[in-house]
Amino acid sequence: KAAVKRTLDLMAQHKLNVFHWHLTDSQGWRLPVAKYPLLTTVGATRPYSKNQKDLADRYENGTYGPFAYTAEEIREVVAYARERHIRVVPEVDFPGHSRATLDAYPQYRCFPDGKGAPKGAVGNVFCLGNDEAVAFMEDVFDEVVRLFPESEFVHIGGDEVNKVNWRACPKCQARMKALGIKTENDLQAWFSRRLGRHLAKRGKRVLGWDELILDGEPPADMVAMSWRGAEGGRAAAKAGLGAVMCPHFYCYFDYMQCLADDPAVYPWFTERLSLEKAYSYDPLAGIPPEQHRFILGGQCCNWSEYTCNETELQWKMWPRTCATAEVFWSPASARDYADFVRRM
Ligand code: ACM
Ligand code: ZN
Repeated sequence: KAAVKRTLDLMAQHKLNVFHWHLTDSQGWRLPVAKYPLLTTVGATRPYSKNQKDLADRYENGTYGPFAYTAEEIREVVAYARERHIRVVPEVDFPGHSRATLDAYPQYRCFPDGKGAPKGAVGNVFCLGNDEAVAFMEDVFDEVVRLFPESEFVHIGGDEVNKVNWRACPKCQARMKALGIKTENDLQAWFSRRLGRHLAKRGKRVLGWDELILDGEPPADMVAMSWRGAEGGRAAAKAGLGAVMCPHFYCYFDYMQCLADDPAVYPWFTERLSLEKAYSYDPLAGIPPEQHRFILGGQCCNWSEYTCNETELQWKMWPRTCATAEVFWSPASARDYADFVRRM
């Protein structure tokens, strides 16, 4: 909580006025949900992983957690942000990126006991053919609505869903048949639109990762977060929907700068994301002028599963986030890297 607050102070200093709080992922669940206590015990503990041996070895005992916020801490952070004119947009990432969630509640996977599971089955995706799994996810969003009453937006995730389970799951296939849906992408889109309606009834508008606009019919009135490139943002603007730009090549500051003092080698993406590269981003490139109004803003992302402490977190954020602030708050004609470096 203290590190989040210090980050909010630095954000305010740089006129960054929205804090997108990614509260759940495969590596850990941090959101308190009264009805589902295992989320913040089992789901908030990351077991030792051979895949992440280098990192796990940096933690005592090779496990991490349980770590989760309490409801009081969430409210405190939201109030702290509000005092600094920062809105908080909470995210719960469903139906993929959910290994931690489903380790706590495995009954919501397609093949809970492994029987009938296809080759290459994954453990991080919900079964969308299971009514109880869908009800669980709606319950979680009801808690999000209670914990974040002032947020206009709720982020529903939706990225990188591996559909191998769904293709083999009798329940998912039965759902598709009942809905007259031909593809698994459309099954996810059905679910996203359903969540969108659920949240609209509770006064919230949804944000979602660009899969929700590029891979199927999006929820009504959604805002797309364009992360795989600029395509999601362009598609959203063209459709008259809002977009937030954060293409990973320019905006993911967990990626290395490839300087001598990078805190850790990022294992999955080794292309250099230098300060200059961050500064070179043009969020309006390729968007026709009459559609610029649909580009609501942009963000930099700091996925923290390879970040061990606050020093590493802040090292990754700054000064690249200074570049992000200038990119999104100034016209392209006013941006000059040499001048920026001089001022830095
Ligand atoms: C993402 O980086 N998977 C949104
Ligand atoms: Zn299923």
